Amino acid sequence: MTIRLTKTAKRAGCAAKQPPGYLLPLLERLPPITDPRVLVGSSTADDAAVYRLDDERALVTTTDFFTPIVDDPYQFGAVAAANALSDVYAMGGRPLTALNLVGFPAELDVEILAEILLGGAHKAAEAGIDLVGGHTIKSEEPIYGLAVTGIVQPDRIASNTGGRPGDRLVLTKPLGTGIITTAAKNDEDSRGAITEAIAVMSALNRSAAEAMDVVGIGEAGVHAATDVTGFGLLGHLRNIVRASSCGAVLERATIPVVEAAVAYVNAGIAPGGTHANHRFLADSVDWGRDVDKADQLLLCDAQTSGGLLIAVAPDRTDALVVALQERNTLAAAVVGELVADHPGRIAVRS
Ligand code: CO
Ligand code: CO
Repeated sequence: MTIRLTKTAKRAGCAAKQPPGYLLPLLERLPPITDPRVLVGSSTADDAAVYRLDDERALVTTTDFFTPIVDDPYQFGAVAAANALSDVYAMGGRPLTALNLVGFPAELDVEILAEILLGGAHKAAEAGIDLVGGHTIKSEEPIYGLAVTGIVQPDRIASNTGGRPGDRLVLTKPLGTGIITTAAKNDEDSRGAITEAIAVMSALNRSAAEAMDVVGIGEAGVHAATDVTGFGLLGHLRNIVRASSCGAVLERATIPVVEAAVAYVNAGIAPGGTHANHRFLADSVDWGRDVDKADQLLLCDAQTSGGLLIAVAPDRTDALVVALQERNTLAAAVVGELVADHPGRIAVRS
């Protein structure tokens, strides 16, 4: 009998993340960051830390790991690696090396682990880097991810803090993978949408980062970026608007979604992490009159290895969309804009 990997874990992928707001009070009790060479630390809820080496170069360091999001071990490895690498791309960086982070139950066949590692190694190779080591422990549930080291120019960092009123918001992958993977895990994926969800989740954000680089990160181009993962589109946008002291307006009709997710969420399927995001965001989001509960959950859906959400100067928006399309990103959608009104808050229109 083949083991269904998602049945070995209670929670899956980025939906296994602790809810937003959980960690903040704990981080506040830790000593502050004191090294002035730390250009990006934990205070702005950014995707990765950035450490200045010299005028030309800064290191980008990040880690991500989680429990099985799909049943196939090779695909799980590929998705987890793409997800971990994504945080380097979201900062405008380029990965250099990565380490495997592994937890594996003693009672599971070690061949499963071999497949997970192979999926991760092939994804790293696609990103143009090597996996140079790692650490493995025995655990109750399988866990896999990477610690990634990358590089970025210190004056070309796409952090959460640089967004400005007027910036257009561009999304590079469709939403809905949390809902679809939950349907699959619960044997409710009647449309067989898991294949498309895996394609979405295992796609590297490398080409999206290259498109940002073409347009230019800084004053005249891309002002801020993040990747959409466990906190959902709105949760990660909330991090940008708070760090950038502006508000945002989204147009639901322009937001790309994997189609099956709409049907599933209307049938009441959504991961616990998505509901937790929706509750957490209640104070920060003004839902338009016609944005129903299903749409609200979609915009809060806990994504695993989602696309980049990019804030770009209005007159460079077309150039960014073209650069994304030329690189065949899964989406290149202008979904809204940053505004001076209601700082820290997001308005969603139908
Ligand atoms: Co991230
Ligand atoms: Co992350």
